[in-house]
Amino acid sequence: MVQAIGIDVGGTLTKIAYFEDDQQLKLLHFPSADLQKVSDWIASFKEDIQIGLTGGRAEQLKTFLRSHKNLHYLVEFDATIAGVKYQLKKDGQNFAEGVITNIGTGTSIHSLKGDAHVRIAGTGIGGGTLLGMSALMTGIFEFEQIVQLSASGSRSEVDMLVSDIYYGNKTPIDGGLTASNFGDAGLRPLLERSKEDILATVQGLVGEVISTLSIQCADAEKMEHIVYIGSTLAENEPLQKIIGSYTKRKNRTPVFLKDNGYSGAIGALLSKYDGN
Ligand SMILES: Nc1ncnc2c1ncn2[C@@H]1O[C@H](COP(=O)(O)OP(=O)(O)OP(=O)(O)O)[C@@H](O)[C@H]1O
Ligand SMILES: [Mg+2]
Repeated sequence: MVQAIGIDVGGTLTKIAYFEDDQQLKLLHFPSADLQKVSDWIASFKEDIQIGLTGGRAEQLKTFLRSHKNLHYLVEFDATIAGVKYQLKKDGQNFAEGVITNIGTGTSIHSLKGDAHVRIAGTGIGGGTLLGMSALMTGIFEFEQIVQLSASGSRSEVDMLVSDIYYGNKTPIDGGLTASNFGDAGLRPLLERSKEDILATVQGLVGEVISTLSIQCADAEKMEHIVYIGSTLAENEPLQKIIGSYTKRKNRTPVFLKDNGYSGAIGALLSKYDGN
């Protein structure tokens, strides 16, 4: 029997977490554009099921669940951090403090120290940017397809590297760093670029902006670990590679969780089990 469910209604995706009889954690998601579907799914459970609800669009889902009595709202950041802590333990990661970067529709950055957490930065560059820029430049707007095509693309004809600017001369900083995301596209505008190359470069832009900001936060907070979460990373190996290698290059330790997008839903679920 399922006693409780945790729901994180985000700007793009609604994530759901619950424990089944065998205490197995179950995870699923719906598009937030179709909250009726979410409400229909919830209706398939008994009426007295406990629901922990969080996320920017939680209020909107509430209007679909009017008759539901056991509904409890949680602050999004609290739920997310509680979920991250649980996931870190489950994934065998053991550190007491770190920067948590949530790459959702937009990106939100937090510092976690023991039981205390605070939001320290954010940027509008996030998963929505990946979908939006990809759609505008290639006409492709499905997340899975963007990820798949980007994996075989090359950024070298679209991005400008530091070594491209210094042109064989000694570079004052690492020549392999990006000097200008998309910087080569304007300089050699007549060169044909494939959709794969454009999509790879969009992933590069999103990943590098987010990791740069996260690394600066880790510097300011004097923290070694950066935990990157959010559905933008889900099965998105190219983005994980970009973020992971840039973070390592800057001497910080990147951490990716197994169920990247579900921290908020898991935190909302756990609140139903720990007496909150
Ligand atoms: N099936 C999918 N459909 C749409 N986007 C997806 C899908 N899977 C992964 N994504 C990516 O995940 C991003 C949304 O991530 P996430 O679910 O963490 O954000 P959110 O919680 O909806 O947004 P926010 O936290 O900013 O309110 C999308 O912008 C997209 O890049
Ligand atoms: Mg979210």
